Amino acid sequence: MAVALIVAAGSGERLGAGRPKAFVKLAGRPMLAWSLDAVRAAGITDVVVAVPPEAGETLGDLAGGEPALRDLVAVPGGATRSESVRAALAAAPSGDVAVHDAARPLVEPDMFTATLAALADADCAIAAAPVPDTIKEAGEDRLVTGTLERSRLWAVQTPQAFRRAALERALAVPDEVLAQATDDAWLVERTGGTVRVVESTPANFKVTTPHDLRIAELLLADRLPPAPAH
Ligand code: CTP
Ligand code: MG
Repeated sequence: MAVALIVAAGSGERLGAGRPKAFVKLAGRPMLAWSLDAVRAAGITDVVVAVPPEAGETLGDLAGGEPALRDLVAVPGGATRSESVRAALAAAPSGDVAVHDAARPLVEPDMFTATLAALADADCAIAAAPVPDTIKEAGEDRLVTGTLERSRLWAVQTPQAFRRAALERALAVPDEVLAQATDDAWLVERTGGTVRVVESTPANFKVTTPHDLRIAELLLADRLPPAPAH
């Protein structure tokens, strides 16, 4: 059985909402609740959430009475995203692992299922969307030095699924290396593991700025609330 790790320990500086981003209200619920719904709808029952270390006793306040956040297995996150992943992994029961950003509240349950299924022939499988724009490289002088082959480019998202041993090996590196990682799959790549892309869509975007929050709000406003738990 697979476990899900949701990283929700960031401060959300670029959003600037005055509270940790994962707990900012989105369509009436803390942002984290939407990802928890998707994980649970995918049939994953073991979930560990990395929360801001300072949250402590105030976690209940941040959750604001949201039912999806009740009985959460929460651990204090680290100084960087990958340190938060490492902290959550240490508290997770055995099994393959799907790592997801709380900052991607529009994730669909089938992305968890599809990335975990792709572990049949890879150490790691990541949700990613084909890049729609032409991407060029330019120097500091803004002169273009090259044009990348678009058909080979993927914009990487979460969830990212890992065979347990591959993720443990990837994360067993000094904090300086962890700090360089913008995604965990890179840590697998640098230890020689195989990483497979699973096609996703731009709809699974990351809420980074107030503009992103507004778009996510519009898209989630019509989503039906989850059926009440029994
Ligand atoms: N994250 C985390 N621990 C950290 C930093 C980030 O768990 N030390 C999580 C965030 O909560 C988020 C995801 O990693 O769900 C992606 O990070 P990002 O979008 O950069 O969120 P923040 O770091 O909160 O935002 P900012 O960089 O604007 O401060
Ligand atoms: Mg950040």
